[in-house]
Amino acid sequence: MTDLFDIRREYTQGHLDEKTAADHPLTQFHAWFEEFRATAPLEPTVMVLGSVDASGQPWQRIVLLKSYDEQGFVFFTNYESHKGQQFAANPKASLLFSWLGLERQVQVQGTVSRISREESAEYFHSRPLESQLGAWASRQSRPLPDRATLEARFAEVKAEYGDGEIPLPDYWGGYRLTPARVEFWQGGAARLHDRVEYSLTGHSWQKQRLNP
Ligand SMILES: Cc1cc2nc3c(=O)[nH]c(=O)nc-3n(C[C@H](O)[C@H](O)[C@H](O)COP(=O)(O)O)c2cc1C
Repeated sequence: MTDLFDIRREYTQGHLDEKTAADHPLTQFHAWFEEFRATAPLEPTVMVLGSVDASGQPWQRIVLLKSYDEQGFVFFTNYESHKGQQFAANPKASLLFSWLGLERQVQVQGTVSRISREESAEYFHSRPLESQLGAWASRQSRPLPDRATLEARFAEVKAEYGDGEIPLPDYWGGYRLTPARVEFWQGGAARLHDRVEYSLTGHSWQKQRLNP
């Protein structure tokens, strides 16, 4: 057994007070996101996306947050991927933002829905051309015999679309996760962490402090 018992640190950077936290969780998210982003992390928009398959098995993977507002959090992917198939059967999803440089995490639970084709097309065409071609070359999450097959497919689509506008594939686009619960966690000394939970009741957000 490799024991890691000695790896530990105290969390001392700050506090989060349920009384002064914003009334809307997206306002609080925005404030924390901007603070995290100012620390210049490698990939500030990284988040862990959770889904559940038909057997109840949870899945998780990293995706990139591409926009957010009071309606929710938008990311882009292949609608035929594992996650896409899981969302078609069960739209419940979670997000986890791990902002450990600030001793913080943010959890989100809610429901995903596809954004409009127009919104997806706008983002798709803002991507570098090679990324647009990559979306055509990859049948995300399906078995692939070898890397050469993928590279050959990329070369084919490059030859086909290389010079003109690359269309948005039918199977590719964005999802918006509409939150029903958001929790902000700030590490505290002696493991007395601050946790503020927002839950949606009807159209209004309630907040409360949780035990660490
Ligand atoms: C840093 C990073 C960023 C990623 N961003 C995305 C993304 O925005 N969209 C996406 O579909 N996959 C992204 N991936 C790949 C996913 O983690 C995952 O491998 C892929 O979406 C297939 O997941 P699935 O088989 O569960 O559907 C990213 C991976 C990493 C490590």
